Amino acid sequence: MKNMPRLTWFGHSAFMIELMGKVMLVDPWLTHALSPIRPSDLEKVDYIIITHDHGDHMGDVLEIMKRHRKAKVISIFEIANYIGEALREPNRTIGGNIGGPIYVDDLEIVLTPAYHSSARGSPTGVVIMSKEGTVYHAGDTGIFAEMSFIGELYKPSVALLPIGGHFTMGIREAIKATELIKPQYVIPMHYNTFPVIRADPYKFKKLVEEKVPGVKVVILKPGESFEF
Ligand code: NI
Ligand code: MN
Repeated sequence: MKNMPRLTWFGHSAFMIELMGKVMLVDPWLTHALSPIRPSDLEKVDYIIITHDHGDHMGDVLEIMKRHRKAKVISIFEIANYIGEALREPNRTIGGNIGGPIYVDDLEIVLTPAYHSSARGSPTGVVIMSKEGTVYHAGDTGIFAEMSFIGELYKPSVALLPIGGHFTMGIREAIKATELIKPQYVIPMHYNTFPVIRADPYKFKKLVEEKVPGVKVVILKPGESFEF
């Protein structure tokens, strides 16, 4: 039986994405108040993608890398170097940079720009492409016009967009981003983890479905999965 591509949200920006038989974690911060799991609960991890060097995105990457000996980190060069040195295992990281396709197994991974900050390297988003489907995780970012290129070039089936405001896009900006990207599905993230990023995902859903015909907003609870 063919597996459906699937993603699972662990709250904040942490997702597990299953594509082409590989298990990828993006921004694996699993020790926040809304997370339904702990790093020790993960069964299989092939790749960990880090969008930028802030604690709520680097999260538990070092612990997960120690537990899952075959897992590799994919990130911008400076973060990959840091993690390789911290683990003393530089060959378990794949450092790339913005805009350059990275080929691993049957996946094509492209780091995208993000308007944000980062302690090491530049902040990024990531597009994960495969024959089974394509996911765009925007990382932490404000809106930017070139999101339309991400839509045009990579045609994401699913876009994961921050809506919490303060540090990233809020609802107004994320609606415009959805219009620029035109994915099949949008899943809101980076909201309600703590008070300054409170946002109502149902308000986002209602407004997107009014203003951007053809796009469905899927609201997940931490721990829920979505097949696409
Ligand atoms: Ni950040
Ligand atoms: Mn963040």
